[in-house]
Amino acid sequence: MSAILVAANRGPVSFSLAEDGSLNMRRGGGGMVSGLASVAKDTDVLWVCAALSDGDRSAVRRSLNGRLDTAGYETGPVLMLDIPPVTFHRAYNAIANSTLWFVNHLLYDTPNSPHFDSQFRRDWASYEEYNSAFASALAANADPGARVMIQDYHLTLAPVLLREIRPDLRIAHFSHTPWAPPEYFALLPADVGRAVLTGVLGADHAGFLTRRWADAFMSCCEVLLGAEVDRERRTVTWEGRTTDIGVHALGVDGPALIERAREADVEARVESLRDQVGDRSLIVRVDRTELSKNIVRGLAAYREFLATHPEWHGRVVHLALAYPSRHDLPEYREYMASVQRLAKEIEDEFATEDWNPLILNVFDDYPRSLAACRLADVLLVNPIRDGMNLVAKEGPILSDRGCALVLSHEAGASAELGADALLVNPYDVSETAAALHAGLTMPEPERIERCRRLAAAGAAMSPQRWFADQLAALG
Ligand code: G6P
Repeated sequence: MSAILVAANRGPVSFSLAEDGSLNMRRGGGGMVSGLASVAKDTDVLWVCAALSDGDRSAVRRSLNGRLDTAGYETGPVLMLDIPPVTFHRAYNAIANSTLWFVNHLLYDTPNSPHFDSQFRRDWASYEEYNSAFASALAANADPGARVMIQDYHLTLAPVLLREIRPDLRIAHFSHTPWAPPEYFALLPADVGRAVLTGVLGADHAGFLTRRWADAFMSCCEVLLGAEVDRERRTVTWEGRTTDIGVHALGVDGPALIERAREADVEARVESLRDQVGDRSLIVRVDRTELSKNIVRGLAAYREFLATHPEWHGRVVHLALAYPSRHDLPEYREYMASVQRLAKEIEDEFATEDWNPLILNVFDDYPRSLAACRLADVLLVNPIRDGMNLVAKEGPILSDRGCALVLSHEAGASAELGADALLVNPYDVSETAAALHAGLTMPEPERIERCRRLAAAGAAMSPQRWFADQLAALG
């Protein structure tokens, strides 16, 4: 039994099965998961997550009631749920990643999708089951009056389901994504939209990364649910219960990140990147190959920049690190193919014998990402829409010589970094191309000064503080 529990789809560790049947454990997850994991290791937190792969499932079956032995992995105790694979895939791929993610990031190509048909209803039933499995596990493992921190769009129903079983608990929900405005959220079938909203309202505290996403959630509650919203006090009252709405920006543990980026594996990659790039200027991006990250328009902007600024030919390299993500979804596989196609076109158009204008790397290599951020002159972060975007915060913290940040005004991070970044409309390829040029030609003292302020803003809200503030808000 635990006094503090975190529930998230993805856990701080994952497993792969070796050919001889043994299991390899590795630390996993992107910014959000590793940020949370760093808190969990220092606090008495039980992390409840789903088994994502066959390796994870084997680990659960070999464990005592799903409690994993994570000794030596710098994480607190982990309870992994072996949700039946079909249920998991429908909940995770069809509902969480293909529906709720698409709604909150405004990703639908509406003439063609979504189709809310009988198959959708079957998938939705799995999402309900998946959320119930979390609610039951949390209920069974929480001390009386424990605080439970439920994460993200995979688990929007869990707060209300948990409250039904354990009204004694203090429950928080946190959205790491943006939230859609009501007219777009209303694409969802009415009962599904209401279930998502009332699910989150099952929490005592519903947290968001920026004021903008919190406001959008409150608008949805007001318009689509008819809930009573007090914008000044940031509360939503529904069926006699009041949920506090919190804004908690998530930042980076600066000292820990800098220490990591000084380790030998990163230094080695810094050296090999220096060899590759030479004395040319370097534009860097680091993303999951994710539809919302807008990598194709980023490459199109680089192409337009090269076309309109021939004086930069031979003097600049764009390193695009675009790691595979959600490859079970056809849209993501196609998107990766589009990224690769455009990269090839840019190479064909501009490369010369002694100059490769673009290096696209699609193999996940964390130390290489850190090395790239250390060396970047310009960091490009141009999502269509993003809850926060931690790369925008990590890049300036990691920068050796001060980098310029080209940043989409649709990234949550723009609320904190906007003053010192070069803000762009993510759909405006020409504006983005001009911003790349402005970043490359920014006078050095200005670039260093802006980068210093960006780094300070990026480290202002460490994951530890982010988590502590939410715990405090729960009382
Ligand atoms: C976003 C979500 C996280 C998710 C991560 C990776 O940051 O907010 O909840 O874990 O993407 O996505 P994946 O589908 O690979 O877990």
